[in-house]
Amino acid sequence: MLTHEENMRLCRVSGDAPMGRLMRRSWIPLCLSEEVEEPGGRPLRVTVFGMTLAVWRDPEGRLGAIDDRCPHRKASMAFGRNEEGGLRCLYHGWKITAAGEVVEMPSEPPEACAAAAVKHPHYPVEEAGGFIWGYLGEPEHMPPFEPPPFAPHPGVKVATCKVWVPCNWAQILEGQIDSAHSSSLHSSDMVPARVARAGATRKNWTRPSTDKAPRLTVLTTPYGFRYAAIRRPIANAATHDYYRISTFVSPLICLIPPNASYNVAQVTVPITDTESWFYFMAWGEGPEVPDNEEWRKFLRVQKGIDLDHRWRKIRTLDNDFLQDRQAMALGNFTGIPGIPNQDMAMWESQGPIADRTSERLGASDIAITHWRRLMLQQLEEFERGIPPLGHRQPKIPQHKIASFEGIVPKGTDWRTLGVGEEEAALYTRSDAAE
Ligand code: FES
Ligand SMILES: [Fe+2]
Repeated sequence: MLTHEENMRLCRVSGDAPMGRLMRRSWIPLCLSEEVEEPGGRPLRVTVFGMTLAVWRDPEGRLGAIDDRCPHRKASMAFGRNEEGGLRCLYHGWKITAAGEVVEMPSEPPEACAAAAVKHPHYPVEEAGGFIWGYLGEPEHMPPFEPPPFAPHPGVKVATCKVWVPCNWAQILEGQIDSAHSSSLHSSDMVPARVARAGATRKNWTRPSTDKAPRLTVLTTPYGFRYAAIRRPIANAATHDYYRISTFVSPLICLIPPNASYNVAQVTVPITDTESWFYFMAWGEGPEVPDNEEWRKFLRVQKGIDLDHRWRKIRTLDNDFLQDRQAMALGNFTGIPGIPNQDMAMWESQGPIADRTSERLGASDIAITHWRRLMLQQLEEFERGIPPLGHRQPKIPQHKIASFEGIVPKGTDWRTLGVGEEEAALYTRSDAAE
């Protein structure tokens, strides 16, 4: 449980809210690469953290991100013409470069442009893992760009999906670090099977356990935390445990335990305090990593079928997510197709900002309470001048951060599962704190 004040400190990220300032010290996904794919194509109007930007790929293929409101009289630059060397506002024709320089003011006398020396807010951008990333924080604190953990090298295939979710980012993130819910909410899509490890077919995910009440244990790391959900496996339960280790990479990335075919990650990006972008990725190097179309079809979040052109679902709280009670009577647990749709029904039903002042938390919520404490603690440290998690020493490179899943002999030190040697050494030193 949190007090109302703590809850607001955790959840509010727009404007000057301290949690938003903390998060904007990291590189943030602005949009998918496919949304500004074509050089010289249509610019995209993007809102994140309550800031509205125009993001575009110029005719030479270079990316730019500037404040969407034209410096002249505030018309949207995303309507603008995508020209060599900058965007041209449609209203009076001012031209602005990706460096925020106003280089032409055709509505003004020729000397006015140089004399005005208008500098328009602009942001560094990078591309990796199927995303356009931007740095929206104070320039003096900008960290070097690192590809995200779900694109550890350029040869990796990443399938993405994107959905607009009308609720606060924090309850979405809590859903991602809540391993216990999958055994109920997703039970029709994640079915127990006598298999050596989690699997993925075109229809569902399989899991080598029927245990619905995992034991949880949490470990704080330099970049966030890892936690293990420990279940009884179907086979060899006397000698082995089934571990699903999720990894939170502060502030916005969760690495979900992988399956035999691909790795899985989610990113939540606040749009405002009560709307978020939800991204869900399958990634890896094997032939079974789905392409975007297969992945979106499997998750039931296909544009033009499940979503409109702005990534808004046809299933909403207002129409009860088109829940099919007859399918439930026939054995489907939720009556809602698609794993993320089931999640979104829960997140959105918690309200625009979930009320954390009157919850009844249980033993399976230990990762959630750990996460809240960690976020509020790093916020308090941030306000005292300490850099956020992931920007401190020792620095673990993002491409080395991973989740884990597998059946291991009882007594295995779980803290070393799925991490590199250097990271393992941090946790197993005799003075390491649990
Ligand atoms: S509002 Fe953009 S040029 Fe006038
Ligand atoms: Fe879920």
